[in-house]
Amino acid sequence: MQILRKVTELRTWSRDQRSNGKIVGLVPTMGALHAGHASLIRAAAASCGTVAVSIFVNPTQFGPNEDYARYPRSFEADCALASANGAHIIFAPAVDEFYPAGSATFVEVEGLSNRLDGLSRPGHFRGVATVVTKLLIAAEPDRAFFGQKDAAQVSVLRRMVTDLRIGSEIAVCPIVREPDGLALSSRNAYLNAAERAQALVLSRAVRKVESLFAAGERDSAALIAAARDTFMSEPPNEVPVRIDYIELVDWSTLDPLETAAPGALFAVAAYVGPTRLIDNTILD
Ligand code: PAJ
Repeated sequence: MQILRKVTELRTWSRDQRSNGKIVGLVPTMGALHAGHASLIRAAAASCGTVAVSIFVNPTQFGPNEDYARYPRSFEADCALASANGAHIIFAPAVDEFYPAGSATFVEVEGLSNRLDGLSRPGHFRGVATVVTKLLIAAEPDRAFFGQKDAAQVSVLRRMVTDLRIGSEIAVCPIVREPDGLALSSRNAYLNAAERAQALVLSRAVRKVESLFAAGERDSAALIAAARDTFMSEPPNEVPVRIDYIELVDWSTLDPLETAAPGALFAVAAYVGPTRLIDNTILD
């Protein structure tokens, strides 16, 4: 499997593939690949003739006090996982290749970027929108694959691709979970055993809301209160858990909903010890 480091190499590769009649799939990642990423790569390989996986820990989407420097990096293992799941090339640029010296251009999706994760991580979605625009311009994929795990990211990127009239289709894949329900995340690597056990409260809250919705509850305040109760009813233990947000919103606008309806996004973010985790469900 080839590893490309330059934007021009990626663009040339993509154009060659397209001129050979291939549909080009792109799976953007920050590395530390796990089974969630693997599911995206497999989905891309299943519907596209050729698949690029990008591995780039994007500095502009991390806040000043966030984990950019210590974000897990495992390039060799990532390449093996990507290849085993159907990737044809890896695109892994250096920071100064992707952000040339003097970089002054950013993409801001107004409104949506200040909701959910954007509210507690100012500038985060500006960094995501910017880097994904760069990736889409560089790779010119027919289809780019993202996980529902980062549901607000999907809303921001869908808006962005529509607004900028970018030709790539956005494909969204379901959340991959551990057998006990924990949503896979590169940041799960930060959790010690006690935190790992506590982290299950997020998926428990999500399941609680799913089951109440299935039983007919439509009142958003009641669903959110039930999720909050799930956090509050945790037995006392040494790991502090702090809710960042619990919200029920329209998945495309991220506006809060008073009444839940099929297709609505229920999303939760919480700090388990020092680690911020997220989870969600699309009600159906
Ligand atoms: P990263 O966190 O590496 O995630 C890359 C992709 O994998 C995202 O689309 C994310 O939603 C998806 N993913 C992560 N965990 C998943 C899980 N448990 N199940 C299914 N999909 C999962 O998201 C980013 O990187 C960055 O913001 C990026 C889009 C690459 C821009 O830098």
